Amino acid sequence: LKGAVGPTTAAIIVEPVQGEGGARSLSEQSLKALRQLCDETGTLLIFDEIQCGLGRTGKLFAYEWADGVKPDILALAKALGGGFPVGACVTSAEAGAGMTVGSHGSTYGGNPLAMAVALASMEELAKPELMDHVREVSGYFTQQFNGLKDRYPDVVVDIRGKGMLMGLKLATPNREFMQHARDQHLLIAGGGDNCVRLLPPLNLTLEEAREAVSKLEQACEAARAKAKAAA
Ligand SMILES: Cc1ncc(COP(=O)(O)O)c(C=O)c1O
Repeated sequence: LKGAVGPTTAAIIVEPVQGEGGARSLSEQSLKALRQLCDETGTLLIFDEIQCGLGRTGKLFAYEWADGVKPDILALAKALGGGFPVGACVTSAEAGAGMTVGSHGSTYGGNPLAMAVALASMEELAKPELMDHVREVSGYFTQQFNGLKDRYPDVVVDIRGKGMLMGLKLATPNREFMQHARDQHLLIAGGGDNCVRLLPPLNLTLEEAREAVSKLEQACEAARAKAKAAA
């Protein structure tokens, strides 16, 4: 990355925890190194937290897991409206100096309904007890996923992600695994690097998490059976 940054580089944009790419979490060390590189070269650091932000990882912003690291620009959406379409571009005072009133027009930008919804959503997301809950339930998931990995090493090869942005890297095709989960009435997403991704609601109960794990276990059984039949 150092080699790729030159005098014409305006910014570096990364997801602190990659979503579609396969639930891959950047280490604290990497985030710190990125901040340092940007500071040294006068490059803007942009974090895309559209998927990993707003409580998803158990902190309001995923970058908060890296002590002292702050972006110059932050992209937010998804949970910002709790289902209602709204996104936001947040900047430091310095990076946003050029964004004066009227310099960035948008038909629906700042509309009162979206702003009221985002405010209500932010009020819920900013509650410390919700973040405690995310950490508790995601801790349970991690422990259970590691159990699945131990019991089904022929199906689950890696556990990834952070908080409730969770990924299982598979040895069997992820699309087929999604169908096995769907057969159990569990909807999960795909992801890069042959992963399946789980991003349940942040208010998921432990009871519901247990049910999801049990359905995933059935999906692992089905994936194993299919691989054996094909061998
Ligand atoms: C990390 C990330 N960035 C950007 C986007 C696109 O966001 P939007 O649809 O709000 O433009 C997505 C959508 O899935 C995403 O996951």
